[in-house]
Amino acid sequence: MARIFSGVKPTGHLTLGNYLGAIRRWAERDQHSAEALFCVVDLHALTVEHDPARVRRLSRQAATLLLAAGLDPDVCTVFVQSHVDEHTRLSYLLECTATDGEMRRMIQYKEKAARERARGGSVRLSLLTYPVLMAADILAYRAEEVPVGEDQAQHVELTRDLAVRFNQRYGPTFTVPRATHPAVAARVMDLQDPTSKMGKSHDATGGIVYLLDDPDVVRRKIMRAVTDSGRDVEYDRVARPGPANLLDVLAACGDGDPRELAGAYGSYGALKSDVADAVIELLRPVRERHAELSADPGQVDAVLKEGAARARAMARPVVDAAYDAVGLLPAG
Ligand code: TRP
Repeated sequence: MARIFSGVKPTGHLTLGNYLGAIRRWAERDQHSAEALFCVVDLHALTVEHDPARVRRLSRQAATLLLAAGLDPDVCTVFVQSHVDEHTRLSYLLECTATDGEMRRMIQYKEKAARERARGGSVRLSLLTYPVLMAADILAYRAEEVPVGEDQAQHVELTRDLAVRFNQRYGPTFTVPRATHPAVAARVMDLQDPTSKMGKSHDATGGIVYLLDDPDVVRRKIMRAVTDSGRDVEYDRVARPGPANLLDVLAACGDGDPRELAGAYGSYGALKSDVADAVIELLRPVRERHAELSADPGQVDAVLKEGAARARAMARPVVDAAYDAVGLLPAG
């Protein structure tokens, strides 16, 4: 059985985009078809200015939502990155494998660093080294597959390069992983800005449906989604991104085909209303389960503790082997 690893960063509330683009598939498919690890990558939330209380709250919420969305701790391993020291232990060895030029070429680094500098802020060194920690997340488990969005493809490519380089220099130690991208509904776009991804760290929130939004808030956001002045409903991702996004979401909620669905609507109002109904129904069980789990935080803590123990047991021998391979004395 293949081993897969993926992570969610607790930098914002999880969105419909996270759910349809990744988490739903982890729950419905990936956890059953592979030996799967799903990680709340909290260390990655510290690469930009952060509020400790908020990171703490969002980490717990992300873990609770993963369970609410159907990740089953009897079937897969759900844990928090900072609970397993092997990630940072290995990250250092990979810093000794990667080059600074390689890091500075990362698109996400360039964009985020430029944004931070434009605001007059300083760029944390960890923002530059972030992809190395991500590589460590993956390589510590000898994961073969990494289900992620397209925006993470470059980081997984780097992970592959580091694994190959390390293996060549020091002997076979790591499995070379590959990114897998879901074929459909990989990208849910912002309802107010349908040419950019519905991201949990987007500044304006009117175009973002959060998994824990109240149903009336979900409805309001969808009814206000940007469309265009066209009179008919047609599926065209390039020329008509707003309506296409709504059709994609509707299709993803019901497993339909967005092109066929377009033909069923005579107005945007009717389309939006059906999209709102479908999304509210889709999220209802997740919200309900989240409420139940939140009422018993001890249960979530126990799952995370058990998950970390399992993850540690998998990662420890791999990272020990890497320490040994580069010439560090065994601790005995
Ligand atoms: N960088 C990923 C993101 O921003 C999160 C992440 C961290 C991740 N470590 C990972 C994803 C390991 C997959 C595997 O979404």
